[in-house]
Amino acid sequence: MSLLATLFEPGVGVATADPSRPAASLYPAEEAFVSHAVEQRRREFAIGRDCARMAMRTLGIPAQAVPAGGDRAPIWPDGIVGSISHCDGLCGAVVARRAHGFRSLGLDIEPASPLDDDLMDAICTGQEIDWLEALPACQSGLMARAIFSAKETVYKTQYPLSGQLIDFHAVSIRLDMAAARFAATFHVNASPFRVDEQLQGRFAIDAGFIVTAMVLKGVQAKTARQEFTTWA
Ligand SMILES: CC(C)(COP(=O)(O)OP(=O)(O)OC[C@H]1O[C@@H](n2cnc3c(N)ncnc32)[C@H](O)[C@@H]1OP(=O)(O)O)[C@@H](O)C(=O)NCCC(=O)NCCS
Repeated sequence: MSLLATLFEPGVGVATADPSRPAASLYPAEEAFVSHAVEQRRREFAIGRDCARMAMRTLGIPAQAVPAGGDRAPIWPDGIVGSISHCDGLCGAVVARRAHGFRSLGLDIEPASPLDDDLMDAICTGQEIDWLEALPACQSGLMARAIFSAKETVYKTQYPLSGQLIDFHAVSIRLDMAAARFAATFHVNASPFRVDEQLQGRFAIDAGFIVTAMVLKGVQAKTARQEFTTWA
């Protein structure tokens, strides 16, 4: 089982690829988005689309275009939710069917290396920095990178529902290293998400990568808090 697959429940299609391998051709609807991009960006985008289609196939969904909006967010086919991430050495995508109760997915892949010290204040809240500083020195930089990755995953999960660009201090992350899970707490309203709303995610560190994952399930309810059930 791949590293990503361990982080997602049944019903989520998962695919990964080595970004250095050749990518299949883009669909015309996707081509426009990278027609002026440099070769490396075209390749990254194309491998992400390959992964998205491979992930769809695992759920029996026919291969189809996944264009991007002006905001860069993937435009998933009707009835599908998903997320894409790439970094040096690994690209991945996850997809799921709305009809199976999935409302949004988030995926982020980062190299398992410490976050640059000079990014710490921009990425982490004071509380997160206090927690990191209490860790053994050999762990704190890597856990800071995990917090960064978790925030990217929260961002990708919330955006399709809220349409809002939120910054790194809009959410704080509490990592449970023993359980390999994290809790993300909103400090802003990003409807349907509210201040103090908490979402749950999972993470794994293996084979030189940190992967963070989030799944939102459930049906529309009266309040944002009731609206989401996450990892049971
Ligand atoms: C988009 C972003 C989340 C990740 O981009 P990145 O650093 O290139 O990292 P990744 O490769 O993991 O992810 C890129 C993929 O995310 C997806 N993506 C981009 N914007 C997105 C959005 N608004 N919503 C959902 N997914 C998005 C795309 O599929 C993109 O790949 P593609 O352009 O090849 O299709 C980040 O750059 C960004 O803009 N962040 C905004 C601020 C933020 O993260 N705040 C944290 C709040 S807690």
